Amino acid sequence: MNMASPHFFLLQLLLTFFFLSLAFGATLPEDEVQALKDIGEILGKKDWDFSVDPCSGERNWTSQTKVRGTENTVTCDCSFENATICHVTNILLKVQNLRGTLPVALVRLPYLQEIDLSRNYLNGTIPLEWGLLNLVRISLSANRLTGSIPPELGNISTLQSLTLEFNQLSGNLPGELGNLPNIQRLLLTSNNFTGELPATFARLTTLQEVRLGDNNFSGSIPDFIQSWTSLQKLVIQGTGLSGPIPSGISLLESLTDLYVWRISDIEGSDYFPFPQLNNLANLEILILRSCNINGTIPEYLGTMSNLQTL
Ligand SMILES: *[C@@H]1O[C@H](CO)[C@@H](O)[C@H](O)[C@H]1NC(C)=O
Ligand SMILES: *[C@@H]1O[C@H](CO)[C@@H](O)[C@H](O)[C@H]1NC(C)=O
Ligand SMILES: *[C@@H]1O[C@H](CO)[C@@H](O)[C@H](O)[C@H]1NC(C)=O
Ligand SMILES: *[C@@H]1O[C@H](CO)[C@@H](O)[C@H](O)[C@H]1NC(C)=O
Ligand SMILES: *[C@@H]1O[C@H](CO)[C@@H](O)[C@H](O)[C@H]1NC(C)=O
Ligand SMILES: *[C@@H]1O[C@H](CO)[C@@H](O)[C@H](O)[C@H]1NC(C)=O
Ligand SMILES: *[C@@H]1O[C@H](CO)[C@@H](O)[C@H](O)[C@H]1NC(C)=O
Repeated sequence: MNMASPHFFLLQLLLTFFFLSLAFGATLPEDEVQALKDIGEILGKKDWDFSVDPCSGERNWTSQTKVRGTENTVTCDCSFENATICHVTNILLKVQNLRGTLPVALVRLPYLQEIDLSRNYLNGTIPLEWGLLNLVRISLSANRLTGSIPPELGNISTLQSLTLEFNQLSGNLPGELGNLPNIQRLLLTSNNFTGELPATFARLTTLQEVRLGDNNFSGSIPDFIQSWTSLQKLVIQGTGLSGPIPSGISLLESLTDLYVWRISDIEGSDYFPFPQLNNLANLEILILRSCNINGTIPEYLGTMSNLQTL
């Protein structure tokens, strides 16, 4: 190629652009940067430094100390438009002393998959607008949240994990949560939820872990939990639900941990026979404490070779 030809000039120009874009890296579009500014303000996150790109991982956009349980990280996927454009995919702000509320502005991050705001001092309610996001994980444990779970969360068909433990949430669980086709973890311990478990929950066959303890539910432990065939861990501890433990529980062959403590109505004189657990060969932990069980302990427990805690 002639070095003076227009083709060579063009090639040089293209190469310059290519290396420039590599040097600057992919960036977050302005509308998502603005969304993060608004989100930071509502949450009370004061140390995000917008003089660098939020997807750069520099400054306080990624925690320097990698202590598990205290993650402080914004993560992006920068593979868009030939790796020139980023989108925010994960926001983890655990134990950051945040004292604000949950931002509606989250919906302006359309590629967001994970929001984890565990162990802060956030108050107020869960925004119903979050139902518009394609979230995979929501974790809001150990805050000061009030109000009930918005039915709109039942529209998040991508949702695998909903963790709301240790708040002051109340009201009935919305039947719409029974529409979540991919839900694996439903952790609701230590709130003030009331009412019966919705019958639509019978459809949640993908559930692997359910924790309901320390709430104010009513009605009995539903028979439909036998349809949660992927279930590995079940904790029913002081829920307000009454006995007996449904015999269908014996169909849950994946179950490793069954933790039932204090079924309600034990003030009454109702006693229940030992629940039928003979098919649960994978059981590692079995706790049936203060459940008003009378009669004899079945012999088959002695043949459960995986059982570590009884
Ligand atoms: C990171 O945040 C802390 C406060 O949490 C602040 O003192 C520090 O200056 C910030 N560092 C940068 C590089 O912005
Ligand atoms: C990405 O790069 C390929 C070739 O490198 C090009 O054909 C395509 O048009 C580019 N797409 C965009 C969105 O820039
Ligand atoms: C949230 O807490 C602040 C004080 O930190 C208080 O002023 C506000 O009223 C609270 N909001 C709700 C909804 O409880
Ligand atoms: C769920 O989404 C559908 C449309 O996909 C909408 O019609 C419906 O109102 C939404 N439900 C809730 C509770 O937001
Ligand atoms: C729980 O809800 C009941 C009403 O349903 C209310 O009387 C009680 O104060 C609440 N408890 C807490 C700890 O919020
Ligand atoms: C549980 O709910 C009942 C009403 O359904 C209420 O009387 C009681 O105070 C609640 N208990 C707690 C601990 O909030
Ligand atoms: C268990 O208690 C029930 C009453 O709730 C009683 O009818 C039954 O005989 C008791 N069973 C045994 C083995 O004590």
